[in-house]
Amino acid sequence: MKYPKEYLDEIKNRLKVSTVVSKVVSLKKRGKEYVGLSPFKNEKTPSFTVNDEKEFYHCFATSEHGNIFDFVMRTQNLRFGEAVKLLANLAGMQPYIFSKQDEEREKKWKIYSSIFNIYVDFYHNELIKNEKYFFVRDYLKDRSLDKDLVKKFKIGYIEKNPNFFEKLKKDFKIEDLLETGLFYLDEKKKIYVERFKGRLIFPINNISGQPIALGGRIIEKSDFLAKYINSPETLFFKKGSNLYNLDSARKLSNKLDDVFLVEGYMDVIGLNKNKIENAVANLGTSLTDKQIFSLNQFYNNIVICFDGDESGYKAALRAAENSLKDLKPEKQILFLFLPDKEDPDSFVNKNGKDYFIDFSNKNKISIHKFIFNHYNKEAENNPSSMAIFEKKLRSLANSIKDSYIKKYVLEYFLEKISELTPHTNHNKKNYYYKNTKSLETTKKHFNESKFLSGVELKEFSLIYLILNNLDLIKENIHLIENIKLFTEVNKQIFEKIILNLKTSEKLSIKNLDIDDQLIDKIIKFAPIKHILKNKSNSDYQILELLDDVRRDLNNYDLELRIQELESRFSKDLSETTFNELKELKKKQNIN
Ligand code: UTP
Ligand code: MN
Repeated sequence: MKYPKEYLDEIKNRLKVSTVVSKVVSLKKRGKEYVGLSPFKNEKTPSFTVNDEKEFYHCFATSEHGNIFDFVMRTQNLRFGEAVKLLANLAGMQPYIFSKQDEEREKKWKIYSSIFNIYVDFYHNELIKNEKYFFVRDYLKDRSLDKDLVKKFKIGYIEKNPNFFEKLKKDFKIEDLLETGLFYLDEKKKIYVERFKGRLIFPINNISGQPIALGGRIIEKSDFLAKYINSPETLFFKKGSNLYNLDSARKLSNKLDDVFLVEGYMDVIGLNKNKIENAVANLGTSLTDKQIFSLNQFYNNIVICFDGDESGYKAALRAAENSLKDLKPEKQILFLFLPDKEDPDSFVNKNGKDYFIDFSNKNKISIHKFIFNHYNKEAENNPSSMAIFEKKLRSLANSIKDSYIKKYVLEYFLEKISELTPHTNHNKKNYYYKNTKSLETTKKHFNESKFLSGVELKEFSLIYLILNNLDLIKENIHLIENIKLFTEVNKQIFEKIILNLKTSEKLSIKNLDIDDQLIDKIIKFAPIKHILKNKSNSDYQILELLDDVRRDLNNYDLELRIQELESRFSKDLSETTFNELKELKKKQNIN
């Protein structure tokens, strides 16, 4: 749904940027603008400016820039639609109603939301205040969840034979009560039942912090009751779209890079107890693209940290395979594996915040590494198994939508696979590198030749060397025959020279029939003359210099071809291209 421009413009017209900003930043007038301390950075001298006329703010410290909607989205971690609602309200305007259907939905939402709020508040207060529930409070104490934490997560307890439905029936239609999923009709007994009776309840909020669903845990062991149950899907709760605690975790995304994605309610709460508040849970379902997407709206790095058991590992693998395709250059998905039998809750309670964060920083691995390691462990060292292994990795890499990421992940996979095959393993250290520094330093003397490209100057050097050593080069013509030049004019001269060297007996520059001006230019700018100057160079030295120039030009050629292949590879991802690319890179190293 898109807001009409007039509506947004009216909000902008009614609200000055300085009005909106000054709710968060204290501003001082300076000329036409306002200045203040940046809300995006800790600073002592103001670098944040607001211009009401131009309707924007600008932060010189972080280069952030935008209008009132951007500002509210950034400072309060809201999505666009929410920012619009908030600012419309501040501007004294009615919320925008999109259509008849939206209007219906808006009405239903108001009822749904008020039932949920009443319900959650009621049972939360019961748990905190009602003397009857001492045994539940004991349970919480056993798990060392104190009152603050219970309040923060609005945990509640529903007795085994509740009658809150009867009370709610007075204020709400039965149909609306059923719509929330908090109750259902027992067909046999013809009574309405509270779905979460006898359970500790954990409200699941939408992004704005409104409760829309519940999770419920039994507090005594039972063979016939599920340990946890969750709300069914409703008009306002879709399992694959929501994440437990995202409404509160998103508020930290200004300060922190990573968000921890864990399995359960208690993991989130346990982390919070240990002051790790950037955690959300996907509640035992498999992770969906939507959930990744909504996390990515706030955080760039998602650290998936499931239970350290087989089912946690399997869930992590499923999550990895499913979310690989949506990797984006600026976003990262990482995996953190806990020791056997630990879940984030138990692990952080045992070791504390610092250890947990440190453990995470040291052990989290990128999604593509996890995937490689997993299949590598499974593959056996025989052709058939290796082929299946490689095929699987290729098809996973191929599923990636972003072409750059696709290229790098595939490159990573193929590189790692080639490391597993010993005959392609080269010991690069044995290659002999020649020092090319001398040529580089001479380039410094050539300020006046700035308008000539590096490769042109190299070509000049080559031609200069040849022209000044015609006889020597004639004897060693094989050394220069295959050199490739890139500048059209130089190429022509070079070909002419070679032809002449091969055919004519008497050699002189004059005989070559080259444009004088060109010769002058070459003599003036060829960097190599500064190396040759004032020295009587032996033939050997000349040939060595020639070889240096040849190598530089050759590398330039390789570089161009590598660039071209890289761009081809990112499109076709073919093995041939990849191997060619590898060969070229290898050559570049030996050259
Ligand atoms: P766990 O069994 O790992 O629970 O399930 P937990 O987080 O360790 O909780 P405690 O410490 O035993 O209380 C993880 C998540 O999987 C879902 C719930 O969302 C739970 O938080 N789950 C688990 C269910 O939906 N049903 C179940 O029967 C069990
Ligand atoms: Mn667990």
